[in-house]
Amino acid sequence: MPSNSHPVSLPARPVLTPLWTPEQIAKRVADLAAEIDQDYVSNPPVLVGALKGAFIFLADLVRAIQTPVEIEFMRLSSYDAGTASSGRVRISSSPEREAIEGRPVILIEDILDTGLTTSAALRHLRRKRPSSLTVCTLLDRPERRVVDVKADYAGFTFSGHFVVGYGLDYDQQYRGLPGIYALDAGAQHQ
Ligand code: IMP
Ligand code: MG
Repeated sequence: MPSNSHPVSLPARPVLTPLWTPEQIAKRVADLAAEIDQDYVSNPPVLVGALKGAFIFLADLVRAIQTPVEIEFMRLSSYDAGTASSGRVRISSSPEREAIEGRPVILIEDILDTGLTTSAALRHLRRKRPSSLTVCTLLDRPERRVVDVKADYAGFTFSGHFVVGYGLDYDQQYRGLPGIYALDAGAQHQ
């Protein structure tokens, strides 16, 4: 797509600083998969991927898990654009009740930030009566939390930095980067 047809303006000169390499991510994903295998050994869970941001994490995680899991998706949006939270959470699709009722469910998230999205997702999933419900997030930024929600499994815990790559976006860009980067969106002022 020609750059002048993009509907929202991206930073003119974004600066991407590497935080975690693909190798470091793969190692953490393998660790998380091993933890999940251990915790759910006799009770295969349904993994519910939170779209869009968790799609790459879920794809790698599911290939590292040995337990025969099932996969569902739900579509959530909390950020309208850019790096500022809109504070609103929209759930535009979610698993059928039959897919998760009576089953152990793990919600797979890209990042736990204010916690608004995850707590809305958990409330929604709980109404469909899973036998248990836990959260596995690739990234956790607890300093930004405004509601009380915790990750049962977290890949990397950090502070500051708006991050992109490995599924995470800035205005729908950068999801395909294989590593995770801090985005300095203010770089156009330099
Ligand atoms: P929360 O509701 O504030 O916890 O936000 C969760 C959602 O906001 C995530 O699923 C992401 O889509 C988005 N988000 C929060 N922080 C970042 C970030 O640093 N980079 C990219 N997306 C983010
Ligand atoms: Mg996003």
